Amino acid sequence: MNGGFSYQDGVLHAENLSLSVLADAVGTPAYVYSSVRLEANYRRFSDAFSGLDARICFAVKANSNQAVIRTFAELGAGADVVSLGEMKRALAAGAPADKIVYSGVGKTRGELRAALEAGLWQINLESLPEMVALSEIAAEMNVVASVAVRVNPDVDAGSHHKISTGRKENKFGIDIDHARQTYADIAQRSSLKAVGVAVHIGSQLTGLEPFRPAFQRVADLVRALRDDGHDIRRIDFGGGLGVVYHNENPPSPAEYAEVIRHAVGDLGCVITVEPGRALVGDAGILLSRVVYRKSGLHRRFLILDAAMNDLIRPALYDAWHTITPVVEASHAEGKVVVDVVGPVCETGDTFATQRALPPLSAGDLVAIMTAGAYGAAMASSYNSRPLLAEVLVRNREFAVIRPRQTIEDLIGLDRLPSWLS
Ligand code: LLP
Repeated sequence: MNGGFSYQDGVLHAENLSLSVLADAVGTPAYVYSSVRLEANYRRFSDAFSGLDARICFAVKANSNQAVIRTFAELGAGADVVSLGEMKRALAAGAPADKIVYSGVGKTRGELRAALEAGLWQINLESLPEMVALSEIAAEMNVVASVAVRVNPDVDAGSHHKISTGRKENKFGIDIDHARQTYADIAQRSSLKAVGVAVHIGSQLTGLEPFRPAFQRVADLVRALRDDGHDIRRIDFGGGLGVVYHNENPPSPAEYAEVIRHAVGDLGCVITVEPGRALVGDAGILLSRVVYRKSGLHRRFLILDAAMNDLIRPALYDAWHTITPVVEASHAEGKVVVDVVGPVCETGDTFATQRALPPLSAGDLVAIMTAGAYGAAMASSYNSRPLLAEVLVRNREFAVIRPRQTIEDLIGLDRLPSWLS
C-alpha cells in the first residue's frame, strides 16, 4: 500500500486515522490527503536537487488546495501557475512571488498584467503574439519582465497522447528551431529580459529516456543563445515525473535530477522544476461508499457515491486507479469481478472495468488510490453534484480543507433573466 495509507487492524488508515471513522465524520465522497506523504514527496525532490541552485515550483494544477500549496511552501517550495486563479491561490497560500513561475499557452493581457504586478519570478512565453502583448504591457507599466521562452523540443514523452506536450504538432511552446529568432526578437524590446529557457514535454513519464534528448536540446540551445549574446541564466525543466498507478516503475526524483545535472553540466544556470503529480499523486485518495451492488445478466456493477465529476481521469484518459476496500477482506472470501461505476448518466462514468475485488455490499467504503493529483483539481459539478470535500490528515488529526459544496451554493449561482421571472 502506498504512501501515508496503510491497513491497521484490518482497516485502511490515512496515517493513523481510520478512514472508516473519517467517513462517518465528513461523509463521502471525499478526497483525503496525508501530510506526511506530501512532505516526504517534497523532501525526496529537494534532497535530489541538493547542491544545485534549484527551485522546486509545485505545479498547482495538480492539486490547487491552499492547504496543500502551503504544506509545500513551508518546506521551501515555489509554485508553477497557469491562470490568475492559480496565481492568487499560490500567493494566498504563502508561496513567495519570487518563487512563482507563470506558464500557459493562452495567458490573457489581464493575466499578464497581474503577473507583472505581483512581481513573479518568471513568465514563460509560448508564442510570438504573447511576447508582443507582454512587452506592451510591461512598457505601459514601466517595468522589465523576466521571461523564459518555452521551447517545443519535438520529443515524444511516450505517455498518454492527451498529456504529451513536447511534439511538434502539440500546441505548446515555440518550435526549438525558431527559438534563436525569438530570443533575437525579445532582445529588441527593452521591456523584456530573456533570463531563461523553459521546456515541459508531458506528464506521467515513467522512464527517463524522453527527458534526456529534450534536456540536451535545451542545454545546447542555452549555449547557442549565449553565443548570440543573450545572458541566459535559468533553465526551467517543467514537470512530468510519473507515479505508480498500477504496475509502472517510474524513475526516482534522484534519478531524474541526475539527468538534469548531466544536461546542465557546467552551464551555471538556476534550475526550476515544476513537479505536480510526483508531489501529490500518491498522497491522496478518493474515499467513497458503495451505494448499490447490481447484478445484471452479463455484468456485476458496484455503484459508488463518487463519480466521474469527482475524479475524471479514468473517463478522460482510461486511467487505472487501484480500488481497495477500507475494511480489509479476509483471503478466504475470494474475489468477484465487477465494473466499478459512479451514478452519473454516462457510460464513461466508470472507475474500473472487470476488476477483481473482494465482495463488497451497499454501505461499504472503498478507497480509490493515487488520486491526489488531478483529482479534486479537475472535479466539476456535472449532474448538479456538489463539489466534494477535501480533508488533510496529520497523524490522528484531520482538517476539512475544503468543505463539501452545498446544493444551495451550487444552484444558488444561477440567475433567472428578467423575461423569465
Ligand atoms: N509544468 C507544466 C508547464 C505543465 O503543463 C504541467 C502539467 C506540469 C508542469 C506538471 O506536470 P506533472 O509533474 O504533474 O506531470 N490531467 C492530466 C495531467 C495534465 C498535465 C498538464 N500539465 C492527468 O490527470 O493525468
